[in-house]
Amino acid sequence: MISAAILFDHDRQILQRLERRDRNMLLLYLISGTVIVVVGEAAAFYLDMADRFGFMPLLVRGIVILLLSTALWAALLRANRRLVTGLMNEKRQGYESVLLAYDSAIALKDAYTGGHGRRVARYSRLIAEAMGLPEAEVDAVSEAALLHDLGKIGIPDRFLTKTSRLTIEEFAEVQKHPAAAADILHAIPSLRRHAMAVRHHHERFNGSGYPDGLRGTDIPLAARIIAVADAFDALSSNRSYRRATTLNKALDEISQVAGSHFDPEIVAVIRQNPVREALFAAHGEMP
Ligand SMILES: [Fe+2]
Repeated sequence: MISAAILFDHDRQILQRLERRDRNMLLLYLISGTVIVVVGEAAAFYLDMADRFGFMPLLVRGIVILLLSTALWAALLRANRRLVTGLMNEKRQGYESVLLAYDSAIALKDAYTGGHGRRVARYSRLIAEAMGLPEAEVDAVSEAALLHDLGKIGIPDRFLTKTSRLTIEEFAEVQKHPAAAADILHAIPSLRRHAMAVRHHHERFNGSGYPDGLRGTDIPLAARIIAVADAFDALSSNRSYRRATTLNKALDEISQVAGSHFDPEIVAVIRQNPVREALFAAHGEMP
């Protein structure tokens, strides 16, 4: 019996169901096995089977018990697989809702950036897919993108919603958000793998970004993708300090700083026609 003292109520119920099921299955197996043996022995004794058929009845009984055991194993393994799949789905849903909850928490800080994380996640996914990254990496880039501004939770609202230019001191405060987010993510085992992508999403390709001044491909690929997606959303949506530009103009502005701010290969990808259209369509679909 596994100690259930530290389990959640829901998990404890699953465990109790599992124990009940296993007990019933084993009892069923024991009863049917006993019936086969008793009936077999009685038949052998009363019908003189040994004289008439030799070892044959013994062999048949063995085969029936073997089939019974196999069926029991198969049923148990199938039920376990179903249970594990259900738990995995539940875990996945819990994980996704935590990511979305973080994004909603950031949105509360600044109405202008509401939905920013979700949009940057969608654009990052489109870019990563267009670059031919494996599915697991595409998911990772998109998840990191959803969390990229998590560190803004620690920045005073008046800086985030300021309509005029930030002072040097204020900007220095705002610049702390990627490292702050990375620290938060690093402390959460299931999100730790996103810490580096988030930490470096404001690095620039020529090394003039923050927080570490990384350059070129020293910047994690996910961070380079998120930087482009972030800029595309920042330019194409309204902010407290300016109105949105058109989508084509946003792409032009990003292209002008390809190689200095952004990875030129990623900028080339978003300028390709199918990707460009997909980005524009995604922009139209998202609030
Ligand atoms: Fe940011």
